[in-house]
Amino acid sequence: MSQTLTLRRPDDWHLHLRDGAMLRAVLPETTRHFGRAIIMPNLVPPVVSACDALAYRDRIIAARPEGVDFTPLMTLYLTEQTDPADVAAAHASGLVSAVKLYPAGATTNSASGVRDFDKVRGVLEKMAEIGLPLCVHGEVTDAEVDIFDREAVFIDRVLDPVRRATPGLRVVMEHITTANGVDYVKASDRDLGATITTHHLIINRNHILVGGIKPHYYCLPVAKRESHRLALRAAATSGDARFFLGTDSAPHTDALKESACGCAGCFTATNTLSILAHAFEEDGALDRLEGFTSLNGPAFYGLAPNEVRLTLTKHDTPVTYPDKIDTDDGPVTVFDPGFPLFWRVS
Ligand code: NCD
Ligand code: ZN
Repeated sequence: MSQTLTLRRPDDWHLHLRDGAMLRAVLPETTRHFGRAIIMPNLVPPVVSACDALAYRDRIIAARPEGVDFTPLMTLYLTEQTDPADVAAAHASGLVSAVKLYPAGATTNSASGVRDFDKVRGVLEKMAEIGLPLCVHGEVTDAEVDIFDREAVFIDRVLDPVRRATPGLRVVMEHITTANGVDYVKASDRDLGATITTHHLIINRNHILVGGIKPHYYCLPVAKRESHRLALRAAATSGDARFFLGTDSAPHTDALKESACGCAGCFTATNTLSILAHAFEEDGALDRLEGFTSLNGPAFYGLAPNEVRLTLTKHDTPVTYPDKIDTDDGPVTVFDPGFPLFWRVS
């Protein structure tokens, strides 16, 4: 008899859907399995105001496949001009679930992000007051800091001082990639959680660079050495409710990835649940998968977990996925974990 695993329907606490043709092509890959997702605001131009978020939410809802039950949870892109009153009103109306902090220049479409943290103090204080979470891209951008150290340095130089200066601010460290990130979350007894991506549980920096450069494994924050991947695996599979899934599924066309200056981002929406089931089984933690994908995130965001269940079945022979998703902008390569997958959503 084949093995099955039933979970509450998962949510994705960090997702890039883009807009237009790309949105229409990638959205079904997420709505097939996920009930809700925190939608990243790094469009061009970014989603900075309640008005922008409302219009973007409408475009996502219009692109939703017929009959699916999927709720986009909107975020605002924090800039040095963000108005605390606009943020508070967007939160009070139920429109936005979080505000996203990109240090200026840290990643794709982050040029409008924050340079001077004193300029966003008022917004952060308002968010602490109303309990609205801040999702943080945790990397410093200083040219002299090595790219593999940027997360650890950010924790010391930026995140810890900001949290100390803003008591009660609820923070999600997004897509953590280091043991330093794991340790920092574990050392805090309140107001701090972290998302972990699918791909950072699978690849380390060797996968990107050994035997030829693999553009589809390049994302930001960049994957670190193996000891960090193992720390992420241990955190994700530990059952600790402060860690939850945020795929950071980030579609870019092959033309933009396979280039002399390739874009950062791994597209994992399609096969994430198969990969996670594989990883959790490998670590003897299948019984903790539901916490990571379906319970810990809603608990952090103060939402009820999804009522609908989804069943994964383990097959005897490998299950296959398309190598690429076709979009009107060009093909998008689906993340290849590098090993056969046997679990699939039934
Ligand atoms: C993201 C993107 O493409 O928008 N890329 C990535 O490598 N993760 C931006 C981000 O989340 O850093
Ligand atoms: Zn992202």
